[in-house]
Amino acid sequence: MAYSYQLETDEAYRKAYQKSIETPELFWADIAENFRWRKKWDEVLRWNFKEPKVEWFRGAKLNITENCLDRWVETQPDIPAIVWEPNDPDEASRILTYKELYEKVCQFAHVLKNNGAKRGDRICIYMPMVPELAIAVLACARIGAIHSVVFGGFSAQSIADRIQDAQCNIVVTADGAYRGNKSIPLKSIIDDALCNCPSVKKVIVLTRTSIPVSMMKERDCWWEDEIKKVEEKGLKNFEPEIMEAEDMLFILYTSGSTGKPKGVVHTCAGYMVWTNYTFVNVFQYQPGDVHFCTADIGWVTGHSYIVYGPLSAGATSLMFEGIPTWPDAGRFWEIVEKHKVNILYTAPTAIRSLMGFGLDSIKGKNLDSLKVLGTVGEPINEEAWHWYDENIGKRKCPIVDTWWQTETGGTLISNLAGVTKAKPSFATLPLPGVQPVLVDEKGNVIEGNGVSGNLCMRFPWPGMLRTTYGDHERCRTTYFSTYENLYFTGDGCLRDEEGNYRITGRVDDVLNVSGHRIGTAELENAINMHTGVVESAIVGYPHDIKGQGIYAFVIFNGIHTDENHTRQDINQTVTKIIGAIAKPDKIQFVSGLPKTRSGKIMRRILRKIAEGELQNLGDTTTLLDPMIVEEIIANRL
Ligand code: WT7
Repeated sequence: MAYSYQLETDEAYRKAYQKSIETPELFWADIAENFRWRKKWDEVLRWNFKEPKVEWFRGAKLNITENCLDRWVETQPDIPAIVWEPNDPDEASRILTYKELYEKVCQFAHVLKNNGAKRGDRICIYMPMVPELAIAVLACARIGAIHSVVFGGFSAQSIADRIQDAQCNIVVTADGAYRGNKSIPLKSIIDDALCNCPSVKKVIVLTRTSIPVSMMKERDCWWEDEIKKVEEKGLKNFEPEIMEAEDMLFILYTSGSTGKPKGVVHTCAGYMVWTNYTFVNVFQYQPGDVHFCTADIGWVTGHSYIVYGPLSAGATSLMFEGIPTWPDAGRFWEIVEKHKVNILYTAPTAIRSLMGFGLDSIKGKNLDSLKVLGTVGEPINEEAWHWYDENIGKRKCPIVDTWWQTETGGTLISNLAGVTKAKPSFATLPLPGVQPVLVDEKGNVIEGNGVSGNLCMRFPWPGMLRTTYGDHERCRTTYFSTYENLYFTGDGCLRDEEGNYRITGRVDDVLNVSGHRIGTAELENAINMHTGVVESAIVGYPHDIKGQGIYAFVIFNGIHTDENHTRQDINQTVTKIIGAIAKPDKIQFVSGLPKTRSGKIMRRILRKIAEGELQNLGDTTTLLDPMIVEEIIANRL
């Protein structure tokens, strides 16, 4: 057995689950023995969901990078840690062994120190999917600084919001990024963001696309120059900062149903144990396997299952810079063949999009190395599940449908590959330590099987969020106040006769577009910033590829003759305020919105209209102006 805590049979899973519920502290203490600690814990768990306050492995001291790097450098220095595949198939791929990765992380840790970074500082990372992104993340952890990675698709405004919220003092970026046939001017976007970020004292810029960039004296420096200074001193090691178990490891911003994105906070010890444990068990990783998670490190999936989960397990993690459809829809399959990928972990939206290109792009590609397939980010429809199973897994690879969230740190509900039973479109069973409950609107727990309700957790797990940065009250109200003594996920869920869970989607005002979370309030605010927009309402509608599409109802009083032009302007506004990922798919101009007498927008009605369910709009008698519904239906897009 490669990992003593790897559950290899259904029975082993059931036993472990049982133990994790009956004696959670003993259970997690046993698992935690498999890591490198500078000091072990005094107490395994202390918690209450009222404040909330959750502490795992209190009193323990560690550095997560010793677990991701040092211990593997000692036992398997020459095993590839990161296999990197560039955007352009004609560019050479790169392999970093554990020893090489270790040295690069240590060197960059020196660079951060030389540029004034200290333990506890917040460092914003806005980079392309190149190994240096993982290196920057790990170097932050090495020195005890808190990383806040911002996805390369976010706008200058979004970056500025995040930098200000966390009061970052350093930004690590690149001149540009390649994505398919496009290139994105990252540094120039950072320059715009920094007009309003006085907290930032240093910007470290990696060369990637070699486009011209502005470099401000005293503030900006080149990654390569800084590394050279460290190399000249011959520095290859960096003594890790010894952290408390509950010290912050990182902040990752995510959208909610209200206001601005919130900074979800994860801490060192619990997050490490959780990502490692779930990685090893869900994917049934075996030494030597090549694990390919197609997410971007800008999202939590990349944090947990490209960087921390795999590396803390001494695994080989494949990192891909590009997109699935460029230069053609065979790109993933070419990568699987080239690097002999064993585990492929991707999103339903990617599967549906590739399905649309037909089987030609798979023909002639050798996918024999594949052993396990995974999906994440949104519900997978049965058609996509079967297509993935038949055409990619050739019916011999178990598919794990992993349900989790930015807030949960790692997977909470999933089958274990080849160990517990899969069921198409079901995430199936909770991992050890996870205690899901379904509740009705009033918060009553719904017992038994063959039921559905809102998904909550009644007990903490090591990887759960601890707070939302700078605003603990927001964490409490968002997750712990809807239902007393429960963590509320925001998802609706069904439990079948065998106790398998199927996530049916968000029950709050959050959309899931191509596996990315978009807050409707945040998007409405962005649209409302456009001159001429009086008010707007956003709802989701079923979209063949994206899962959910974005439908915007907009009241516009500007003087415009060309609606399409106005639509483009609105899209441009959204791109500037949030980023291109939040652009509405449809924009319908309306003269009013269906509102109650107290002025609340009745989204339920708009949702039905967007979905094309015009027969049964439900009760409209409480509407201030029922006629508006007729008008909206008549002009539906
Ligand atoms: C939301 C979390 C998990 C990392 C990527 C997204 C939805 C996630 C599944 C799944 C059905 C899923 C949920 C969840 N979701 N995985 N396997 N089946 N729905 O992280 O941006 O924090 O979004 O994604 O609605 O609440 P995120």
